[in-house]
Amino acid sequence: MRRTFKEVDILSSTRINESELLREVNLEISVLKGLDIFTNAHVQGVVKTTMAMCLKMNMPYEEIKKCVISAYLHDVGKIRIPPEILQKTARLTEEEYQEMKKHTVYGYEMCMEYPTFHKYASIVRAHHENLDGTGYPDGLTADEIPPEASLIKVADVYDALTQRRQYKDGYKQSEALAIMLNDVKAGKMSPDYYEILLFVVIEGLEEKHETHLMNIQKFNNNLEVLHELEIIYKQIYDRGLTPKLEKKLRQFELAPGYDMSTNANLLIIKQKSLEKELEWEKLCASEISAINKILKELYKWAD
Ligand SMILES: [Fe+2]
Ligand SMILES: [Fe+2]
Repeated sequence: MRRTFKEVDILSSTRINESELLREVNLEISVLKGLDIFTNAHVQGVVKTTMAMCLKMNMPYEEIKKCVISAYLHDVGKIRIPPEILQKTARLTEEEYQEMKKHTVYGYEMCMEYPTFHKYASIVRAHHENLDGTGYPDGLTADEIPPEASLIKVADVYDALTQRRQYKDGYKQSEALAIMLNDVKAGKMSPDYYEILLFVVIEGLEEKHETHLMNIQKFNNNLEVLHELEIIYKQIYDRGLTPKLEKKLRQFELAPGYDMSTNANLLIIKQKSLEKELEWEKLCASEISAINKILKELYKWAD
């Protein structure tokens, strides 16, 4: 597949200091910090995904910074959209939709008001363009769209589909990615950046999966513990709470001062956590396998 960004040799690339980068980014956007758009969950989500994608591609520091700041700014023009349109939960009328689309141009204009933001203006303007020229506001085609805008678009659409909104539930990650694959196949969305997003999502899920497995292991001996607890309390009943028995109770993270039923209740709470962990683990595993299938489908299509 065509690569939009030059791939950097992993060995030669220096590790990016993420907190330093975010500090610099925050400093630069602080001119507009008063706007509550930056604390908006969607903007935060797009920034997070954009950053993860840039890091995955081993982009140079300055390029990552440019993409992350543009992600922060991408919907800044929405503050010029009337709130009754912005907050409308029902379907927008054609006229309202046309007004909503203008947030790209308003964002561009706002960036042009600050010399430090000039370099982000065309990226902000182009984040709803499609590679095949069917996007807005200018109907640009592949080569005319800044690559950063194509990257942010992928993060933007993914976040919009997966985020839980006031009035509707978000899609599961695999569902959102399947919907986006249609846009890739239709020639609207960059297959390169979409592939990177798949890597990022799979990696995030694998990390989560690992944590759930660890928690399951931790909680899993609960039934054994219940049985042992019974024995320990029998011994306490016979000989009183010896230091050895106290140590045993502490090993189970149970309170030695409590009676058997209180501690048994603690175990039941842990059991409930285990059930949740098992559920999440299953969901993670099925998501990983579904997204791997999507990745295969992407490669088949690209061949
Ligand atoms: Fe937007
Ligand atoms: Fe957005």
